[in-house]
Amino acid sequence: MSDTPVSVTMERDGEIAIVIVNNPPVNALSWHVRQGLQDHFTAAIADESVKAIVLRCDGATFIAGADITEFGKAPQGPDFNSVLHMIEAAPKPVVAAIHGTALGGGLETALVCHYRVAVPSAKLGVPEVKLGLLPGAGGTQRLPRIVGVEMAAQMTSLGDPLSAKKALDAGLVDALAGEDSLAADAIAFAREAIAKGPRPSRERAVFGDVGAIEALKAANAKKWKGFEAPYANLACVEAATRLPFDEGMTFERTEFMKLMMGSQSAAQRHLFFAERQAAKIDGLPKDVQLRPVTKVGVIGAGTMGGGITMNFLQKGIPVTIVEMAEDALNRGVGVIRKNYEASAAKGRFTAEQVEKMMGILTPSLSLDDLADCDLIIEAVYENMDVKKDLFGKLDAIAKPGAILASNTSYLDVNEIASATKRPADVLGMHFFSPANVMKLLEVVRGDATAPDVLATAMAIGKTIGKVAVVAGVCHGFIGNRMLSQRQIPATQLLMEGALPDQVDQVHLDFGMPMGPFQMSDLAGLDIGWHRDPSRVETLRDAFCTAGRFGQKNGKGFYDYDEKRNRSVSAEANAIIEEFRSTSNLAKRDITTDEIIERTLYPMVNEGAKILAEGKAQRASDIDVVWIYGYGWPVYRGGPMFWANLEGLPKIVAALEKHGVEVAPLLREKAEKGERF
Ligand code: 3HC
Repeated sequence: MSDTPVSVTMERDGEIAIVIVNNPPVNALSWHVRQGLQDHFTAAIADESVKAIVLRCDGATFIAGADITEFGKAPQGPDFNSVLHMIEAAPKPVVAAIHGTALGGGLETALVCHYRVAVPSAKLGVPEVKLGLLPGAGGTQRLPRIVGVEMAAQMTSLGDPLSAKKALDAGLVDALAGEDSLAADAIAFAREAIAKGPRPSRERAVFGDVGAIEALKAANAKKWKGFEAPYANLACVEAATRLPFDEGMTFERTEFMKLMMGSQSAAQRHLFFAERQAAKIDGLPKDVQLRPVTKVGVIGAGTMGGGITMNFLQKGIPVTIVEMAEDALNRGVGVIRKNYEASAAKGRFTAEQVEKMMGILTPSLSLDDLADCDLIIEAVYENMDVKKDLFGKLDAIAKPGAILASNTSYLDVNEIASATKRPADVLGMHFFSPANVMKLLEVVRGDATAPDVLATAMAIGKTIGKVAVVAGVCHGFIGNRMLSQRQIPATQLLMEGALPDQVDQVHLDFGMPMGPFQMSDLAGLDIGWHRDPSRVETLRDAFCTAGRFGQKNGKGFYDYDEKRNRSVSAEANAIIEEFRSTSNLAKRDITTDEIIERTLYPMVNEGAKILAEGKAQRASDIDVVWIYGYGWPVYRGGPMFWANLEGLPKIVAALEKHGVEVAPLLREKAEKGERF
């Protein structure tokens, strides 16, 4: 018996052959699917009693793309392009029957079919750009011939799928089928297509305006900064406008291989799997039952509490928001409304949706009103005594089984839990500001947190559109703990001769959305300041004493105008010079390499400690935290992935050179030639 999995079968309905792909979970084009397609199409083409062929899929979706797990491995089975070429050249009509998502290589398979029918709920797209790639099996050459240059350029460079209705309007789909009758409708369509005959898209002419490509580049310049793939996608679409089909295919192949061999796509593919892996929780019983969450309580109507609340309202989950003072409550609720109305003005919501969301928000001045909530998230002042007092009160109010979560960004969740008689129901849910926008949610597992509480918090994170990552209890958890290892040496660099904009620029060039000092200014330099102007012990003290508190008062490490545009500040730099002169450190030139080594390598070092202590489940979770919580450039795959590319021995050597104690796990991996 052959070991080849049977993932493609064929049935007959009179003169129609139906080729069926069944490769769970997403019908990816694994080598055996390509083999099966080749075998069955060869047979159906050769069989003279077959007059037309339908290609459809079992399971949740049409083919959702190439099998990403095969990338970078030795090729097996037939070449994808050859299979597609054979389907397109079939001398009888071929009809793709699409449900779920026809993505990437899946849509490219549909494009070589002569006709496409889809259910209304289907989505069609080429998301390869999100994996740092481009559609490498003719997508960039066939789309401009089917939907035109402008839409092809948009679809390939942005990677967002079209609804079936939009695809129909664009000519990408020929007919909509019934939601429950796709198989039968596709066969009927194929029967009618027999008279029309095959219609290979490669023979059509490219149409549309090439100017659309430059317009897209201009519109997305900021978003695409540092990324290679969007530009490569557009170059291929542009090539389609001037090259014959076969030459266009060669151009596409070359560009595809460049991306495939490069580090950006490796990073983006790593992130694809890392994000899915993060949802998996080690050491949890398989049959863990989730607790129902139909009503949420949020304590604190400030920036964090308001942002957290918005996540739930948007998903139709009612929230009771509690504040201590009426004016703070009104202000907080007002800000939520204002944010929604601003989004509505941009077309993200209708006015009706805004009212619906505001309608399920209950403002309250009493913790007692949280008694019927399934999940209560505290987002008050970052102070242990305050939090413990609050959790003690909640213990007396919350119903049995309610999950009690703290949005603390640094504090010991075990100690907070100890203020209750139900520590098993307590955990951390650390949102990132602005909490309605940032995708990261650190779910902090306390020593006593019950498995179903943890699993429920992770699941609710997914429900509200977050990427949730499990973190263990330690100061700052995963993200902020590593952040502090960047801030300390960054400040030290100022003492040795660097200036804030020099350090920040290195981080901006690296691809971070802001540098360490821009971030400090945003957070506020006076956070945690002792407020005694006569005590200037640190550089921060010097800034606060000079009344430079950051963006909030228009001056910090930089000066800010009314629109919060920053400029280099002579006064700030003079404060740094003066403070430096009080130390015995000589001023010297600091290089870009040194800034990288001193500010980014220690983060990797801390990541290794976090991993060794089991505070992160896996290195890829750390990458997810930094990409979704702090804007680490996606095309660099997160700090631990990037460390592998840099080379762990190089990092160890540099840390030693700069006098940083090397984490044992990092040293061990470097010595053994291993990677994170
Ligand atoms: N290859 C291999 N595995 C894949 C895969 C793919 N293309 N797409 C999804 N999977 C896996 C996931 O890793 C996950 O595995 P796990 O259960 O072990 O974690 C499982 O399938 C289910 O995936 P999701 O959790 O993402 O399921 P959803 O139902 O939420 O989403 C989906 C389904 C919309 C299809 C989503 O998985 C997706 O966007 N997949 C990627 C689509 C894509 O990028 N296609 C292009 C691939 S590149 C290509 O085709 C190159 C070609 O041009 C030559």
